[in-house]
Amino acid sequence: MNLPRSVHPETLDHLAECDPLAVRSRADLRRINRFMRTRAIMARAMQDAVAAPRRIVELGAGDGTLMLGIARALARRWPGVHLTLLDRQDLVTQQTLDAFDAIGWQAERCVADVAEWLAQPVRGRHDLILANLFIHHFEDRQLTSMLAAIAERTNAFFICEPRRALLPLAGSRLVGLIGANAVTREDAVLSVHAGFTGKELSALWPRQQHAWRLAEYPAGLFSHCFLAVRGAAP
Ligand SMILES: C[S@@+](CC[C@H](N)C(=O)[O-])C[C@H]1O[C@@H](n2cnc3c(N)ncnc32)[C@H](O)[C@@H]1O
Repeated sequence: MNLPRSVHPETLDHLAECDPLAVRSRADLRRINRFMRTRAIMARAMQDAVAAPRRIVELGAGDGTLMLGIARALARRWPGVHLTLLDRQDLVTQQTLDAFDAIGWQAERCVADVAEWLAQPVRGRHDLILANLFIHHFEDRQLTSMLAAIAERTNAFFICEPRRALLPLAGSRLVGLIGANAVTREDAVLSVHAGFTGKELSALWPRQQHAWRLAEYPAGLFSHCFLAVRGAAP
């Protein structure tokens, strides 16, 4: 069955950072990421994307703890990474920044809207820009310009998003079973409707595709991934 893509505002994005419903929903998100094996999916794709990155940016990074788990797995192979954790909410604690420091990664938080960040002049390329459960917040027409601006700024781009299909939709209706609150239960369903399938993200990637190798694929039971690597086979 073909599920048309529809993007609707998610409640978590509009709650204050310290709202107890938001705090609880972000804890749900950490559990959902564990359940979806996001860390393993992302760590594998990141290693396919780049060999020895120095500069990584995560968009919509939330509290940064997903990336901390990935960094812990990769830090021996990838020492001394400079990581920017961008989110429009100020969610990354000093404790999380110190935990990155302890494994030899220099992490900084950047509290900004992604559009604001992408509107800044390009100052050199990052080795990797990535995101988890973030790109589905945007309509296709916004994504076209956003992906073009990202392509100018990086040598590799990887995202892990909800897969828009019946099984993930059924799963999203069951997140209450792992104790998710009302905000998460509603947002989970919305995020699957706003998710991706097939080669939709490849079609939105900027046209000069000869300079890029693209891979777009389902991952695990619920995720949909897109990887773009400049001038190399992903
Ligand atoms: C569903 S959460 C995912 C957080 C994190 N990536 C994870 O997997 O735990 C989406 C995040 O995107 C952020 N966000 C939404 N719209 C944004 C925008 N326009 N610019 C920057 N951050 C945004 C929200 O504040 C939120 O932290």
